[in-house]
Amino acid sequence: MNINGKQSVITPEGVFIIGTYDENGKANAMNAAWGIQSDYGEITFFLAKHKTTENVKKTGAFTVAFGTQKTATLCDYFGVETGAKADKIKKSGVHVHKSENVNAPIIEEFPLTLECKVKSYDDATGILVGEVVNQIADDAIITDGKVDLDKLQPIMFDASAGAYRAIGPVVGKAFHDGLAIKNDTAEW
Ligand SMILES: Cc1cc2nc3c(=O)[nH]c(=O)nc-3n(C[C@H](O)[C@H](O)[C@H](O)COP(=O)(O)O)c2cc1C
Repeated sequence: MNINGKQSVITPEGVFIIGTYDENGKANAMNAAWGIQSDYGEITFFLAKHKTTENVKKTGAFTVAFGTQKTATLCDYFGVETGAKADKIKKSGVHVHKSENVNAPIIEEFPLTLECKVKSYDDATGILVGEVVNQIADDAIITDGKVDLDKLQPIMFDASAGAYRAIGPVVGKAFHDGLAIKNDTAEW
């Protein structure tokens, strides 16, 4: 079956919550699926025009929290209402404080957050590139000094079903399992 290009599903997509302040220091949060690591210490988003894009242009900073199983409903809320019309922080009941490193809010209900400075934002394409200057993680999601995805329980956006899905167990070792085929030592 051929599927029209515009209906194609590119998967997995993430659940990223972009936190920003406006010019008066009022916090906002939006859900973005179209985000990706684009270099070491760099994250890139593809955004339409939102309150969030207005904010990043003014402050030059944003945070990125990772959606988790516990925060899935909050994540969806941040994607279905605009901060131009509602105080999403107040309405959702989340707690925020200012990042120590950038002029953007940390949403305390999320266990893992990137603090980013705007490297570039292009109004024409909506491409926002951020330099990750620091990452904040709750102790509860750390094992041996590293972020532990089994504890974090991140979610992904399933564009095909219009749903949020849990991310599953480890099924292979990266930069390792393929070596058996490369080196002709694979046993099938
Ligand atoms: C699952 C989901 C994914 C989304 N992904 C994006 C995205 O990648 N880029 C984008 O511009 N908007 C995306 N949106 C839409 C914005 O989150 C939405 O328009 C939001 O109200 C913008 O908030 P703001 O106006 O307060 O900044 C997404 C929404 C949902 C529910």
